[in-house]
Amino acid sequence: MNHIILIGFMGAGKSSAGRLLAEEGRLSFVDTDELIEARERTSISRIFAKRGEPYFRDLETETLKELKKETRRLVIAVGGGLPMREENRRLLKELGTVVYLQADVDTLAARLDGDTTRPKLQGGPLREKIETLMRAREETYLQTAQKVLNTTGKSLIQTVKEMERDVL
Ligand code: S3P
Repeated sequence: MNHIILIGFMGAGKSSAGRLLAEEGRLSFVDTDELIEARERTSISRIFAKRGEPYFRDLETETLKELKKETRRLVIAVGGGLPMREENRRLLKELGTVVYLQADVDTLAARLDGDTTRPKLQGGPLREKIETLMRAREETYLQTAQKVLNTTGKSLIQTVKEMERDVL
C-alpha cells in the first residue's frame, strides 16, 4: 500500500498538514503519537516519565508494524524522533512515500514556545535544544525522505497544495 508518510521535527506541522492533505485526498489520517496515546491510554509525557524513552521508542516501532496491516490508503504523521531508528526507516520506506516537512529553527522555536507536551524539549533553553536535536537528526530526515518540502514562510494551505501536486 502506498501510504503518504510525513516526517520532520516537532512543530514542523506534520499533523496539521497531514490532516488537511488527507481531507483533500479523501484519505484517512493517522498520527503515530495519537495511536500510541490511545493504546497506552495516557499521554506521551507520562509514557516518557513513567516508562522511559526506550519503551516509547519500542511502541513507535510496534505502531509502524501495525500500520503495515492497514488496507486503506493513509496519510501518516509520525513523531519527530521516529525516523532515528534504522528499523523504523526500513518500515517507513515499506509503508509508502516519505515526505520530509522541513522548517528552520526560528520557525520551529516560535511554534514550540511554551509547549509542555514534548518531553525532549523540557528543562532548558528551547532554541538550544532544537538546534542540538536538529543537528543530530536533519541528515537522517533528508536521507529517509523521497521528497523534501521546505515549509518556511509558507502557509499551511500552500504546504498542503504542494503535497497534493507532488505526492497525492
Ligand atoms: C518526539 C516528537 C513528538 C513525540 C515525542 C518525541 C521527538 O512528536 O513523538 O514527544 O523525539 O522528536 P511530534 O514530532 O509530533 O511533536
